[in-house]
Amino acid sequence: MALMMPIMSSVIGLLSLSIYWIGAYLIDAATGIPAQIALFSNMIVYLAYAMQVVMGFMMLVILFFILPRAMVSARRIEEVIETEPSIKDGTVAARPGNGEIEFDKVSFKYPGAADYVLRDISFKAYKGETVAFIGSTGSGKSTIVNLLLRSYDVTDGKVLVDGVDVRDYTLEALHQKMGYVPQKATLFSGTVFSNVAYGDMSSERTEADVRTAATIAQAAEFVEAMDGGYNASIAQGGTNVSGGQKQRLSIARAVCRRPEIYIFDDSFSALDYRTDRCLRSALKKETADVTSVIVAQRVGTIMDADRIVVLDNGSVAGIGKHRELLDTCPVYREIVESQLTEEDMRR
Ligand SMILES: Nc1ncnc2c1ncn2[C@@H]1O[C@H](COP(=O)(O)OP(=O)(O)O)[C@@H](O)[C@H]1O
Ligand SMILES: [Mg+2]
Repeated sequence: MALMMPIMSSVIGLLSLSIYWIGAYLIDAATGIPAQIALFSNMIVYLAYAMQVVMGFMMLVILFFILPRAMVSARRIEEVIETEPSIKDGTVAARPGNGEIEFDKVSFKYPGAADYVLRDISFKAYKGETVAFIGSTGSGKSTIVNLLLRSYDVTDGKVLVDGVDVRDYTLEALHQKMGYVPQKATLFSGTVFSNVAYGDMSSERTEADVRTAATIAQAAEFVEAMDGGYNASIAQGGTNVSGGQKQRLSIARAVCRRPEIYIFDDSFSALDYRTDRCLRSALKKETADVTSVIVAQRVGTIMDADRIVVLDNGSVAGIGKHRELLDTCPVYREIVESQLTEEDMRR
């Protein structure tokens, strides 16, 4: 490209120059003004045609530059399109269950990784229970959630939802059961309504449904203050609302689906303590008979859970209620001590 530009402009310059030169010579030799004017206009037209031909050649050269790049890109895109998904649909279609979850001796390593991320994880959540996961960053909390959602398949063991292995469900049936609030809230360009009602395949959601969901998620207040209320527009990626607001809308989206299982992957961390508390008590009323899986950093968020699973480096360090774990699990005690005062602990 560096060479072509100067070469091309020299060619164009020399070409114009020679056309003008020969033109001038011919015009000079002609007799009478009309003949000279006719020659002059012919010269201009000739120059325009000559330029078009040169441009054509230039395009051809550019093509040869772009072609190899395009071929490499095309090959890469083809590779992506032709990849067989490793997650294959099962055959069990939608059926009402009660949201029971069971991990049976689950071990997992990410495809291509050398080491196990999760080792021998077993726990059970019955209808209406809340199971919480706590542990340091990188201990495998999000990985457990990914296995439950079947973003990955287990390496060993089984994940059961309502007594059926998640690998046997069709993905649609499995996902229909779950209301998942990811660690990183994602909003799409549209309105508050379209974002909260998003992804519901079973039935149309009315504004009343969306309003109820927003109220539970503690989002109603700021949504109603927005210009246009539930029809207020949301920019791509939700850049016109704050992090905490984004998170609450993302929670409202899960609530709006009325799932059998709620999954919150560190969804309360962007909220202040007061909002966190209000939201959880509203959710608790709403989700009394819905199973919840909560991943959290703050002990305060999960203290009331029916079962707390303490993860340490991919293994279970302890399972139990807050009080039991305080006495029996040193890892949990350490986490709690780093966050609460002694008084709070014995609440
Ligand atoms: N897609 C992935 N591929 C390979 N390794 C991963 C992937 N996602 C996470 N990991 C690894 O798995 C471990 C657990 O990650 P994660 O479950 O996200 O932890 P947590 O949510 O508890 O912070 C980390 O050590 C991380 O490096
Ligand atoms: Mg995580």
